[in-house]
Amino acid sequence: MCGIIGYIGGSEAVPVLLEGLRRLEYRGYDSAGVALLSGGAIEVRKAVGRIANLAEAIQQNPIHGTTGISHTRWATHGGVTLENAHPHFDASGHLALVHNGVIENYQTLRDRLIAEGHVFKSQTDTEVLAHLVGEAFEKSGDRTKEGLVGALRQALRQVIGTYGIAVIHSEIPGVLVGARRGSPLVLGIGKDEHFLASDVSAIIAHTREVVYLNDYEIAAVENDRFEISTVSGSGVDFQVSKVELSADAVDKGKYPHFMLKEIYEQPSSIRDAMRGRLSAEEATAKLGGLNMTNGELRAVDRIVLTGCGTAFHAALAGEYLIESLAHVPVECEFASEFRYRNLPMDRDTLVFAISQSGETADTLAALRESQRKGHRTLGICNNVASTIARESDGGAYMHAGLEIGVAATKSFTSQLTILTLLGLLLGRIRHLSHAEGRTIIHEMEKLPDLVAKALELDESIQRVAKKYVSAKNFLFLGRQANYPIALEGALKLKEISYISASGYPSAELKHGVIALINEETPSVFIAPQDAVFDKNISNIEEVKARKGPVIAIGTEGDTALAKICDDVILIPHAPDYLTPILSAIPLQLLSYHIAVALGCDVDKPRNLAKSVTVE
Ligand code: F6R
Repeated sequence: MCGIIGYIGGSEAVPVLLEGLRRLEYRGYDSAGVALLSGGAIEVRKAVGRIANLAEAIQQNPIHGTTGISHTRWATHGGVTLENAHPHFDASGHLALVHNGVIENYQTLRDRLIAEGHVFKSQTDTEVLAHLVGEAFEKSGDRTKEGLVGALRQALRQVIGTYGIAVIHSEIPGVLVGARRGSPLVLGIGKDEHFLASDVSAIIAHTREVVYLNDYEIAAVENDRFEISTVSGSGVDFQVSKVELSADAVDKGKYPHFMLKEIYEQPSSIRDAMRGRLSAEEATAKLGGLNMTNGELRAVDRIVLTGCGTAFHAALAGEYLIESLAHVPVECEFASEFRYRNLPMDRDTLVFAISQSGETADTLAALRESQRKGHRTLGICNNVASTIARESDGGAYMHAGLEIGVAATKSFTSQLTILTLLGLLLGRIRHLSHAEGRTIIHEMEKLPDLVAKALELDESIQRVAKKYVSAKNFLFLGRQANYPIALEGALKLKEISYISASGYPSAELKHGVIALINEETPSVFIAPQDAVFDKNISNIEEVKARKGPVIAIGTEGDTALAKICDDVILIPHAPDYLTPILSAIPLQLLSYHIAVALGCDVDKPRNLAKSVTVE
């Protein structure tokens, strides 16, 4: 949600910043801008729309300099206009600032500043922040790096909200300053050059050595040195980390879209989620990162799974998986509800915050609320250095690799894989026998190959997608652990193709939804050969009796579905607890191909951003 990158060094800043912005574009793409220190002044270029528009604006009106900041926006305060695009300036016009996050008390601060004579050019909360820093800088009279950092401290003490920011000042040309609270910021260390960025993908082409800033930390960066301190003024013992990400991870490779690449990565991302975590000898899963002994896990009498969007759908599927494998009661809560709901929870309730990015504001708030109440709260995250990963009491990383497509795909199946491992682990310290544990492990080991087989359905799914591309409304239906997969299928279609779609448990149809069925409304049934197959068949018959087209996801070898459904996609056979992972694959491909056929920008759907760091 908004991406920022700043550069200071010996090279021309524009190519570094534009390339970084392209890597960060998945975080927001309403508008973009660059500000450079150039000949004792700050030059700025902005454009509404994609980074390509900004690149064109710069090509038409070039700027040069070796220190600069830049931003790609996902609008929160103020419409998508050139005036609202970052960077924003202070009252003097000498200080430029880019910001990711939300200043919640910006209106009060803005009113106060206006009363004091400040004039604002945009409707953004960010411009208020720029004015505050500039005001403190002018008042201090200290026109040095220390003066700028001091001014930033003073301004940040006045704001309520979240920020990842980068600042330059034309009177202090050799300095780039950044700070964070609630929105990620990483400092990249190069040779006689440094970077500040919202995430490492923006800078890994230049350096692998980074410092992940913590909340309330400020970095003052020069070509050949940097200092990190806190907003309250104390020094910081920082740690330099090595980024493991491969450079390929930030490229589409042979695929037309990141989403398709990430769908195809699932055999390996699922394998990576399981790697080193299956013990055939003990017939159980090993999740050492939970930081809990078997005795402590045995004492857990209830689990709460929380997350947003796709992660919430994984949680819902996790409820079925863990309850069936481990017989531990599980409750799922939207993180946005959990944080304000005051859920009654016993001492032995274990909470999991599920988040691909590890930065989702609501999920982070839910984690903190749960910890505040004294509950052990664990994370299931993909982004290793993320705030949720760092603040949780332990957890399990997804190891899915960078997910750039805005629509979550591989992270979803990795979340399901980890929740299945958790079910196995909790089951084995309860009622599951050694032999049962061994069977589950054996089945899980086959999973990556089964997913690869499911991906072979791509061509036939593409044909189905073309057939239904003009439908205005879709229903997705499934039972048991495939009900959350139906929800996820509907979400995928909505977010990338803008077609209205809803997910329901199959049997809920007749309680109202059936009113939507007509010849133009396709229903996608997830109906594998499982314990509720016959029940699904009855629901399909109900739709067919009303002339509704049916696309069914069934199990290889099935012949019953083809007799009553319009289109049938058959996934490999697997035990009930693994089928949701396999049934998710054709739904991802179906949405993808429909969206492509409609000419939608699948990697950057309208109004969305990859990581929602505002409430
Ligand atoms: C859907 C999607 C979102 C995210 C949600 C949570 O495709 O990407 O619904 O799943 O915003 O994001 P994370 O998992 O980063 O907390």
